[in-house]
Amino acid sequence: MEIVSPSGVSAAQLDRLLGTLRFGRITRFLPEIGSTNSEAATWGENGAPEGALVLAERQTRGRGRFDRTWVAEPGKNLTFSLVLRPRFGAELFGMIGLAAAAAVGRSIGARFPRLDPRIKWPNDLLLNSRKLGGILVETRTAGAPHPVLVVGIGLNVNQSAFPEQIAGRATSLFLETGHEADRTELLARILADFEVIYDSIPTDRGANVRAVYLERLVGLHEEVTLHQVHSGDAVTGRMVGVDEHGGLRLQIGDEERTFHAGELTFHRSS
Ligand code: BTN
Repeated sequence: MEIVSPSGVSAAQLDRLLGTLRFGRITRFLPEIGSTNSEAATWGENGAPEGALVLAERQTRGRGRFDRTWVAEPGKNLTFSLVLRPRFGAELFGMIGLAAAAAVGRSIGARFPRLDPRIKWPNDLLLNSRKLGGILVETRTAGAPHPVLVVGIGLNVNQSAFPEQIAGRATSLFLETGHEADRTELLARILADFEVIYDSIPTDRGANVRAVYLERLVGLHEEVTLHQVHSGDAVTGRMVGVDEHGGLRLQIGDEERTFHAGELTFHRSS
């Protein structure tokens, strides 16, 4: 008989499908939690090994970038966080969110060949210009000799409707394919792809991550506007790539500048 964890994602199935060495090998599946990122950070600070996975069926205080709330219908989606203990220098930490986005894009593209997952800098997942998922990387022990990072991933899988305020901007795999997806299988793929791409970071100092990431990056070589969320300022320029820290490179007139935060808008839909 199949053992189903309280979260609805099958622990036995995950274990069977998992082709990883570290990611998802130790898990906490929870029916409900405030935020899987907070839970994973505490667990990490208390010694959880790299790859420890916290997955919740429902988050009551799910967080997004810029202190936004992450809302997902319980029992339908993937909301999980991984503990990371990078053995490379902090100058490469900017690659981690990009690696996660590249891995999720790769997993979805492989599982659903008719879909074309794209990435909106820094690490939003889009399908048909609508948001399918988001990634939140947090460092809890910056400056410590061996910092703990948490990578939180929220992916809209089987949700069939969204609250009115985001309905025009959000999508799910169910809405794009018309079929419910097996969340456990998808999770196993994402963990495997993420582990491989994450492990390449120290080997080539992020070159592979950037190459895979750029293949799916929306707006590359196009005119875009970056809104600085806190100051309210906006800059417009041609997107020329991402630097070795994950910063967005914009060509603004004769000058190239790099930005480390902000919200992009595109001048033509892609
Ligand atoms: C964003 O697009 O703003 C990032 C959203 C990240 C959401 C995920 S869901 C799992 C993990 N736990 C959280 O509280 N946030 C992340």
